[in-house]
Amino acid sequence: MIRRTLRNVSAVLLSGAAALFLAREAGAQQALSVPAGLPDWAFNIPDKVQPAVFKVEGTIRAPGSAKEYEAAKIAGNANPPDWFPDEHPPAPKAVTGGQGIRFACGSCHLMSGQGHSESADIAGMPAAYIIRQMANYKSGERKDNERMGPIAKIESDEDVRAAAEYFSTLKPHVWVKVIETAMPPTTFIATAGRHRVLLPGGGTEPIGQRILEVPEDPFRVEIRDPHSGFIAYVPPGSIAKGEALAKAGRCAACHGDTLKGKGEAPRLAGVQPLYLARQLFDFRYGSRAGDAAAPMKPVAAGLTDDDIIALSSYLGSLPPA
Ligand code: HEC
Ligand code: HEC
Repeated sequence: MIRRTLRNVSAVLLSGAAALFLAREAGAQQALSVPAGLPDWAFNIPDKVQPAVFKVEGTIRAPGSAKEYEAAKIAGNANPPDWFPDEHPPAPKAVTGGQGIRFACGSCHLMSGQGHSESADIAGMPAAYIIRQMANYKSGERKDNERMGPIAKIESDEDVRAAAEYFSTLKPHVWVKVIETAMPPTTFIATAGRHRVLLPGGGTEPIGQRILEVPEDPFRVEIRDPHSGFIAYVPPGSIAKGEALAKAGRCAACHGDTLKGKGEAPRLAGVQPLYLARQLFDFRYGSRAGDAAAPMKPVAAGLTDDDIIALSSYLGSLPPA
């Protein structure tokens, strides 16, 4: 995705901020790493060895959609496909792409807002929550140096508000299937899209203490089909253990009785477990800090890695709406 981004914008005149971002992106391609103390499986760092997988080329279609696109035109982050325009209200240019927009929200979060395992599900999140996260990425209180940090810095307040309002109106659907298994299929993290995908010809491997998320259908995920979601493989026993921890930790007191969000605390139900785990590690480590994160700091401080895996598995398995 990073490489495609570069190709896509190389022809246009870059503003200082964007040029800096791209320079950093280019460097980050090799350097992408996780601070000591955080497990790299939660952050989708591309593997060094990249087996050949399919290429998205030519004219592409998504099942059930009347639309078709040229693969090259929708590659990158400026011009995401909108496979099912009837399923959402009109979207602002910050989301769809358009004049002056190089990083359209829809390219990573999809037009449905539900995103991929390396990004985030923001469908139906309150606009105020989304705006607050953008401000925190911008200030650096919430760290994502590769993606949201630089994007939040170049996005105008107006575009952020318009995008936040759009995503807040969307209804989330079941987007991830959580499966407990000791021996998931062997996978690797592809550079393209930064997803974990099945290793071609690979067998199975022990899950260890990890959450492994793969697309249900790699091609449909790669073309950003909002009807094709993810499978999360989690260690046996995780869901029941997570349910007990959520009760003991009183997550519902702040996040709402059905964990679909309440006030300042966002929806956790049906959110991708890999994303949830990454956030809990970030709260515990301090890469998500500041006033907004203060209520979560004591919660996360008491969680072991296993607790984080269990809670994330349980929350991901709940109905999102
Ligand atoms: C190039 C890909 C990309 C684009 C474009 C992008 N995002 Fe993101 N976004 C991400 C990633 C990756 C994360 C997860 C970061 C993390 O784990 O903290 C994320 C996380 C977020 C979150 C945090 C969600 C939560 O539940 O706290 C918000 C809000 C968000 N993005 C909003 C936006 C908006 C609004 C836009 C358009 C202006 C946008 N993003 C464009 C990749 C992208
Ligand atoms: C005292 C209130 C409170 C309690 C208790 C609480 N949370 Fe939170 N949580 C919040 C708030 C507020 C936020 C939003 C923080 C922000 O704006 O950055 C949040 C954010 C989160 C996020 C990030 C969501 C996202 O979309 O990025 C996760 C994950 C999370 N909480 C999990 C939990 C779990 C699991 C528990 C129970 C073990 C829990 N929380 C208990 C208040 C709470």
